[in-house]
Amino acid sequence: MSFLIAYASWSGNTQEVAELITESLQNEGVEVDTFRIGIGVIPNVKEYDALCIGSFTWEKGATPDEVKDFVADVGYKPDLVYVFGTGDTQFGGDDLFCKAADKLAKFYHSPFEPLKIEQSPRGMQEQSVTNWTKGVLEHWRHLQE
Ligand SMILES: Cc1cc2nc3c(=O)[nH]c(=O)nc-3n(C[C@H](O)[C@H](O)[C@H](O)COP(=O)(O)O)c2cc1C
Repeated sequence: MSFLIAYASWSGNTQEVAELITESLQNEGVEVDTFRIGIGVIPNVKEYDALCIGSFTWEKGATPDEVKDFVADVGYKPDLVYVFGTGDTQFGGDDLFCKAADKLAKFYHSPFEPLKIEQSPRGMQEQSVTNWTKGVLEHWRHLQE
């Protein structure tokens, strides 16, 4: 069982979430490859059982350009995509909070609620990441039954 975690991050918050998800999945025996969107050659998404895509949210709820480019370069919608994101409610309140994660989840018809983290996941929100990852794994395992 293998997951690809592809994420975009400028100031490190989304990267931290990606790292925590990676640790949690690896602890459960899942093989994980991570890819930082915008850097290097895009892995072959078809080789993985599932894609986890992570993004911060940019101005007025926008999805960052590099994430849009990644989505276009992948070129198809994988069957199973789980979405996570970081954001900041200071930039437009609840309406725009982690909007990019919502948009990605909708676009990919994600079967699981996207994870939304306010800024850094370290500390209080770490548990949310762990719980979300457990939920993703349970979801994935149910699909195999
Ligand atoms: C110019 C600017 C606009 C932003 N707009 C939003 C927004 O509309 N919604 C939101 O949730 N976060 C917004 N943010 C906050 C970032 O998404 C948040 O800081 C995120 O954790 C950054 O991720 P990174 O550290 O992985 O780059 C904005 C940040 C900046 C600098």
